[in-house]
Amino acid sequence: MLNARVAGVPGRPQVLKTGEGPADEGGVGIVAGVSVVVTGGAGYIGAHIVRLLLERGDDVVVLDDLATGRAERTGHARLIRADLADPAVAPTLARAMEGADAVIHLAARKQVGESVQRPLWYFQQNLGGLANLLRAVQLASVPRLVFSSSAAVYGAPNPPADAGTHSPAKLTAPPANPPPAPALPTAPPGAAAPGTPAPGTPTADAGTHSTPFTPQPIPETTPLAPINPYGQTKAAGEWLAHDVAASSDLRLACLRYFNVAGAGWADLGDPAALNLIPMVFERLTAGQPPVVFGDDYPTPDGSCIRDYVHVMDLAHAHLVALDYLDRPTRPATVFNVGTGTGASVKQVIAEAARVTGISIPPTIAPRRPGDPPALVADPSTMTQTMGWRAHRTLPDIVTSAWEAWKTR
Ligand SMILES: NC(=O)c1ccc[n+]([C@@H]2O[C@H](COP(=O)([O-])OP(=O)(O)OC[C@H]3O[C@@H](n4cnc5c(N)ncnc54)[C@H](O)[C@@H]3O)[C@@H](O)[C@H]2O)c1
Repeated sequence: MLNARVAGVPGRPQVLKTGEGPADEGGVGIVAGVSVVVTGGAGYIGAHIVRLLLERGDDVVVLDDLATGRAERTGHARLIRADLADPAVAPTLARAMEGADAVIHLAARKQVGESVQRPLWYFQQNLGGLANLLRAVQLASVPRLVFSSSAAVYGAPNPPADAGTHSPAKLTAPPANPPPAPALPTAPPGAAAPGTPAPGTPTADAGTHSTPFTPQPIPETTPLAPINPYGQTKAAGEWLAHDVAASSDLRLACLRYFNVAGAGWADLGDPAALNLIPMVFERLTAGQPPVVFGDDYPTPDGSCIRDYVHVMDLAHAHLVALDYLDRPTRPATVFNVGTGTGASVKQVIAEAARVTGISIPPTIAPRRPGDPPALVADPSTMTQTMGWRAHRTLPDIVTSAWEAWKTR
């Protein structure tokens, strides 16, 4: 690992636009001897990874267009402001990556609803951005890449018969003419054995609310069937990255995050109220009832179940993945990052009421189209191959998110 220091003033990140910088340094050529490049490092998750890398002494360069990220979150990492989806950006990126021995690629647009409204733009941004990045990775001969994927690649696995708002065709059919699937690990220990119910499969009559099902954790071997353009860009991104890695010396790990929440530091909380926990805080602090979208799912309390993973556990997973990519043998390329345990929307709301001390009974709204009843990770591949597991609990997540929320 390279450890040459990059000059920087703590707390005063240097913001360069693409093509800026001293002429004799090729625009961004002042970046030298870096070891880890983090795209999207000014964002919610990326900023946690950047801070952990800086704390352990790595040299870090952040590539971010600051569309949703914030410069002040990147500490004394060198910040290069660039749109990865700009077709002309690859040479600039390659110069920024010179000497780097790893890239962690988080930069992406991530709003599902927006992706349905603007699918072409999402593919241009997320897949086009990844293609530019991979071109730069090749130009700069960067040996290791960690790609931010998502549980959205699974879509809504095996929804129960009464999941009325779902479109069966979309749920069960893979994308037309799918590229070959990435090399998936053999079913990890703990994954469903042949003959056992498929992930997410409810028990026989789970369609009735009176007989709730226990969600089956989803292993990485589950067929990919994303149900919106956002998830499709992640699935296609995995395929693209895998094909490039298979045809070169690039060592690749795709991490499929489940529901990321919490804060490792109070100044790095999730700034957007797009996910459940910030949305609940927003409502509670405004004196309004939190909203449960659908309470007639075949789950124990009728609300959707998700696997909430603390952003610090997730950030550590990236550091562990970098070390894994240094190993001579690597049995897997894709990894679920979750806890293996689900929490329902109502449980999360109850926890938020406990932590905030603001208790307002939730209102029940109709189901949102495309919301599967339960998505819980089988994280055993991460545990078996890298020794990683999530340590933080739902109370840890909600408490840390609240501490961060209060500093907004
Ligand atoms: N938050 C979650 O629960 C979750 C779950 C699964 C996967 N992910 C993935 O994790 C990654 C990070 O998510 P986040 O929650 O930190 O989101 P975020 O919006 O806070 O961070 C994304 C960062 O990428 C930057 N960015 C986006 N598009 C860019 C582009 N074209 N060029 C340069 N910079 C660009 C943004 O400015 C921002 O700083 C994304 O790839 C997202 O899809 C997030």
